[in-house]
Amino acid sequence: MKLQEEKIKSKKAKIAVIGLGYVGLPTAVELSKAGYRTFGIDVNKEKVEDVNNGKSYISDITSDELKKVTENQTLQAFENFEKLSSSDVVLICVPTPLDKNKIPDVSYIKSTSKEIAKRLHKGQLIVLESSTYPGTTREVILPILEETGLKVGKDFFLAFCPERIDPGNEKFKFIDIPRVAGGITESCTKLASEIYKGFIQAEVVSVSSPEVAEMTKILENTYRLINISMINELSLLCGKMGIDIWEVIEAAKTKPYGFTAFYPSPKIGGHCIPLDPFYLSWKAKEYNFWLRFIELAGEINEQMPHYVVTNVISLLNKQQKSVKGSKILIWGVAYKKDIEDARESAAYNVLSDLLKKGADVKYFDPCVMDFKVGANILKSIEYKSEKLKEYDLVLILTDHSGFDYDEIAKKSNLVVDTRNAIKSRQHKNVSWF
Ligand SMILES: NC(=O)c1ccc[n+]([C@@H]2O[C@H](COP(=O)([O-])OP(=O)(O)OC[C@H]3O[C@@H](n4cnc5c(N)ncnc54)[C@H](O)[C@@H]3O)[C@@H](O)[C@H]2O)c1
Repeated sequence: MKLQEEKIKSKKAKIAVIGLGYVGLPTAVELSKAGYRTFGIDVNKEKVEDVNNGKSYISDITSDELKKVTENQTLQAFENFEKLSSSDVVLICVPTPLDKNKIPDVSYIKSTSKEIAKRLHKGQLIVLESSTYPGTTREVILPILEETGLKVGKDFFLAFCPERIDPGNEKFKFIDIPRVAGGITESCTKLASEIYKGFIQAEVVSVSSPEVAEMTKILENTYRLINISMINELSLLCGKMGIDIWEVIEAAKTKPYGFTAFYPSPKIGGHCIPLDPFYLSWKAKEYNFWLRFIELAGEINEQMPHYVVTNVISLLNKQQKSVKGSKILIWGVAYKKDIEDARESAAYNVLSDLLKKGADVKYFDPCVMDFKVGANILKSIEYKSEKLKEYDLVLILTDHSGFDYDEIAKKSNLVVDTRNAIKSRQHKNVSWF
């Protein structure tokens, strides 16, 4: 343990990052920038090639930034797992989706753990970063690793340290976000904390177990899921009552304590908030416990795209137009502004519903060039403001920065704005959702 601690502190430890996505790539880049020899491992050949060629596929990391660490080979990417044998530390950043029945799919964690087990050696530290239910580190990973005959806390070290990155957030960048680390034993926690102190500028908080760290991450995301769903539900009522929810939120925000603003959206998207809480509600059933807040919030969230489409239908109807045959431009398919991630975004539901209803749908997104809906692969149109009049309706699902939304309102026939992108309330052709 002392030897490993010294290696980590002196930056002599070699570190493998498994999964080079939104979490793994920034992690690998920051580790190498901090001076650690880093091996990125991903089953996706294209990503491995891109990393080695210094070509970033994530907006938070520029290609120049990536090149700096790949050209001097501080960071190297691999499609196979061989480098685990010579790694002192392994960080697991693989996906944790839900299956089609909304059941946690920890198969990525399991298969990764099996690859690690094949190469597990004395002194190695393994840290799971993927968001998951409390118990995963101890119940899923530990038995796979201990099958090798090596003992945790003595021969190897195992901890959970959730990633809290917020892609696209300019204010809180990767290294400025405090980390929470909980190990199976005290020495596991200590070693895990050391590695994050080696490349994160913010505080590293040690907690008593991986379960506390796992629950911490789910608490954070559940808090957001429930609060955003609550404001979404209120936005629907405000719509019926003729009250502007956006004005209400601005007014409520003036209270200096006890109120945190959450904003309506056409649906909460991304790989975290709409998924992680359901890891917990699944786990809770093992304890004969039903997490009703989470289930209710999920239900409201899943219904939101349906209300968006209803709003589109109503607005067209007022102009004596049917959805069938109407030309509709979807503005933004990413799940939030200024990022290229469209996972779980409202656009999937809205687009497929409108297509099914016979609308002639096109989309524009400066960050997402291709968008797959069922069997259709759509391509973003090139935006020209003078062409807006060609559409019967423009539906703003993502308020990407850098556009003059007032101009868009002026030049469009009808607009449904689900993000309050259009600030002026003078436009009679706009419906704020
Ligand atoms: N995206 C976010 O904003 C965010 C924030 C915090 C936490 N998380 C959590 O981090 C985890 C990863 O999320 P992400 O957004 O980076 O996912 P991602 O899909 O962007 O990246 C995961 C990567 O893992 C690779 N992969 C899959 N199976 C693999 C295997 N067996 N071996 C090696 N590589 C494999 C994939 O090819 C992909 O490149 C998830 O648990 C997620 O909930 C994500």
